[in-house]
Amino acid sequence: MAKLPALPKRFHSASVWALYGLGLCPALVAFYLGATGQLPGNPVKEFEHLLGIWALRFLVATLAITPIRDLLGVNWLRYRRALGLLAFYYVAMHFLAYFLLDQVLNIPAIIADIARRPFITIGMAGLVMLIPLALTSNNWSIRRLGSRWNQLHKLAYIIAAAGALHFAMSVKVIGLEQMTYLALVTLLLSWRLVRKPYLKRKRQAAAPRERSKDAVAL
Ligand code: HEM
Repeated sequence: MAKLPALPKRFHSASVWALYGLGLCPALVAFYLGATGQLPGNPVKEFEHLLGIWALRFLVATLAITPIRDLLGVNWLRYRRALGLLAFYYVAMHFLAYFLLDQVLNIPAIIADIARRPFITIGMAGLVMLIPLALTSNNWSIRRLGSRWNQLHKLAYIIAAAGALHFAMSVKVIGLEQMTYLALVTLLLSWRLVRKPYLKRKRQAAAPRERSKDAVAL
């Protein structure tokens, strides 16, 4: 399979920073449109929607890095932390929009909402699980936690499932958009179940080819 041209190593760090910059643009646009009264319909709902949908997009993008590497041979691992953190920033902003604009700091109403509406309970669980992941998304934590870091970051699977479910449950009738996110998350999580045997077979298939190449070289 033809490979994508690789980005020279000297641009790796700049490309990660560019991703943070680009990734925050939808939030800036939403703030600008909100502040200038240009959001259509119910502006608070629209603002919440924009932040929520981008949170979900970044969660999906974070989970897509591994299958893209396995299936296409493109290694974008260097972008995974930025994508995960962007997902966290968007969920946090989505929550703040709900907390400050929708519920106007009414903590008893928020607690009642979390207890009463299952889709809010699931969303809140997603936010709570994202906090330890965001706090440990740094090299120091990876070194300190060792293999426990990988175990902890498997929470990303549950968070993405919670996000897609929360989205589907937030509407009265599930439409194409909700179906698409549910299907994407299901596919990305299912890949985790089959990837080990797939990679093993791929390695076994590549081994005789490598050996015959060595024989020719000798
Ligand atoms: C993983 C975490 C979360 C993700 C990915 C997420 C994403 C979304 C998405 C995509 C929507 C649909 C927006 C629309 O079409 O209107 C939504 C709706 C909503 N979310 Fe979240 N959310 C998360 C967590 C939360 C939390 C923590 C809260 C508050 C406690 C919350 C409160 C809401 C509310 C109130 C709505 C409905 C807005 C409406 O009435 O239209 N979400 N969320």
